Amino acid sequence: MAKRIQFSAHGGPEVLEYVDFTPREPAVGEIQIENRAVGINFIDTYVRSGLYPVQAFPSGLGTEAAGAWATISYRSENIAQRVLELTDGQKVPVVYDSVGKDTWEASLDSLQRRGLMVSFGNASGPVTGVNLGILNQKGSLYVTRPSLFGYVTNRAELDKASSELFSLIASGAIKVDVSANQIFGLSEAQKAHRALESRQTYGSCLLIPGR
Ligand SMILES: NC(=O)c1ccc[n+]([C@@H]2O[C@H](COP(=O)([O-])OP(=O)(O)OC[C@H]3O[C@@H](n4cnc5c(N)ncnc54)[C@H](OP(=O)(O)O)[C@@H]3O)[C@@H](O)[C@H]2O)c1
Repeated sequence: MAKRIQFSAHGGPEVLEYVDFTPREPAVGEIQIENRAVGINFIDTYVRSGLYPVQAFPSGLGTEAAGAWATISYRSENIAQRVLELTDGQKVPVVYDSVGKDTWEASLDSLQRRGLMVSFGNASGPVTGVNLGILNQKGSLYVTRPSLFGYVTNRAELDKASSELFSLIASGAIKVDVSANQIFGLSEAQKAHRALESRQTYGSCLLIPGR
């Protein structure tokens, strides 16, 4: 008998249930896999809360998977100013921003002219109501709001992206250490969501089935 986390109504972490579950038999061309460790992503909290819709209730949960040259604490430092200092006044050609609303403008201010703003998440809330003129004012900037599924849609794209990722992990360029206090049992999904949403975590979190 398998176990899964499911929920029958949108809400806080308390709606998550750890239940017995019988997966349907795989159809032709499908395989069944046993998860030994499950990545937990911010997106899971959006699916749970209803920010991202589900097809039907009860719904299962779970989708999922970076090094730093310098770190800036945006809670206590002026991001754009620190970027200027760290780059000897050059600023950067591209920003990857998953925080969203709170860092949108500072991220634009960190870009060189004609730089690329990759806004890929909304941990502090979504970026809305943007006046496109701001891209002109801050240096003829480009913006994209991407997600994985706009890039990986077939086997060839998956092979290319995953082999690039695993090569970077194998080379040590990307480290995937997960601290012990961010490894939860699958039955502790509520606790994991509370930790993620209360900003107690840093980097990856895992759910371990059978723990
Ligand atoms: N487009 C995609 O394909 C894709 C892929 C992965 C993730 N995402 C999205 O990116 C976002 C972050 O995910 P992640 O995996 O990067 O999470 P993460 O590793 O937990 O990082 C979240 C970041 O957001 C900050 N943050 C969290 N809550 C905040 C709040 N209320 N106000 C201001 N800052 C806050 C955290 O800062 P502190 O450390 O100061 O708390 C941390 O820097 C989510 O919206 C997720 O859905 C998108």
